[in-house]
Amino acid sequence: MYGDTVAGGSFPQRRMRRNRRFPWIRRLVREHEVSVDDLIWPLFVCDGEQQEPVPSMPGVFRWPVSRLSDVVEDAINLGIPVVALFPATPQDLKTEDAAEAVNPDNLICRAARAIKEAHGHQIGILADVALDPYTIHGHDGLVKKNESTSEVEILNDETVRILCRQAVVQAQAGCDLIAPSDMMDGRIGAIRNALDEAGFERVGIVAYAAKYASSFYGPFREAVGSAANLAGGDKKTYQMDPANSDEALREVQLDIEEGADFVMVKPGMPYLDVIRRVKDAFHVPTLAYHVSGEYAMLKAASQKRWLEEKAVVLESMLAFKRAGADAILTYYARDVARWLKADRE
Ligand code: PBG
Repeated sequence: MYGDTVAGGSFPQRRMRRNRRFPWIRRLVREHEVSVDDLIWPLFVCDGEQQEPVPSMPGVFRWPVSRLSDVVEDAINLGIPVVALFPATPQDLKTEDAAEAVNPDNLICRAARAIKEAHGHQIGILADVALDPYTIHGHDGLVKKNESTSEVEILNDETVRILCRQAVVQAQAGCDLIAPSDMMDGRIGAIRNALDEAGFERVGIVAYAAKYASSFYGPFREAVGSAANLAGGDKKTYQMDPANSDEALREVQLDIEEGADFVMVKPGMPYLDVIRRVKDAFHVPTLAYHVSGEYAMLKAASQKRWLEEKAVVLESMLAFKRAGADAILTYYARDVARWLKADRE
């Protein structure tokens, strides 16, 4: 090898610590950086007038529509480019067929209209497409139950038809990016067609392309109130097996072919290898979702003073960038934006 034949190629001539001696030289050789431009801030939306804390996510709230424009103004002032909206649908509006998902006056649509009215194009709005916040059983799709075995089947094509309507309703309300998180087959292409036919050819699609059947989503399900509904059920017949990563590449490839503008890997930190493989294979805008359980872990350890919150969160963000993520959905987005701003001042 080159290094073996050239003086200075190995110890004691080669000393890696030379480039770490001072802050200025560490800055000089730094390969990756986290910026506020990399952040997407997920927000939970609720009915009523009061903000509600999410117990398993200290510092995270469900916001009533009337408070949202202020919360989003804060994000705009910090420079966060996009917020992602998730509804805590009142239990009495949840049904077998998820009718509320396609109601043009549902929480998400009201929230999107309120944000657009107040802030126009100063910030982007990403809306999740899936049925779980609207179904009585907590699944992302329509369910067919076998009465004798009590096994449930999540219906694919029937679900996709509703997702298309949900996407159009969200686009009509002003959402800029439609993000299917349901993992039904063929939904990206179908939603692209539905949006185009409805005149929303400029609305983008963020595909939750490699979404795993993960146990890190627990606090989110509490936040949107789907945990109890899902009861002992799981999503393993549609979300991916955490054991697989070749399969993630197939999922991503199909979603790109069907028209996705962004692809997402979810969860985040435990799946950095998948982000790297996706980025290397496809070179498309790739998002990481630092999910609710990851937030809960960092927050809980920080509250116990077992970890230093700012340091571990910023290190986590950097890890996403190093793995190849272009942007990160994180409940820490506002904190990260504030910390970065304070560090600059
Ligand atoms: C709904 C959805 C989930 C998340 C985002 N969209 C939950 C799930 O799939 O059960 C999880 C986000 C998080 O844990 O932060 N399809």
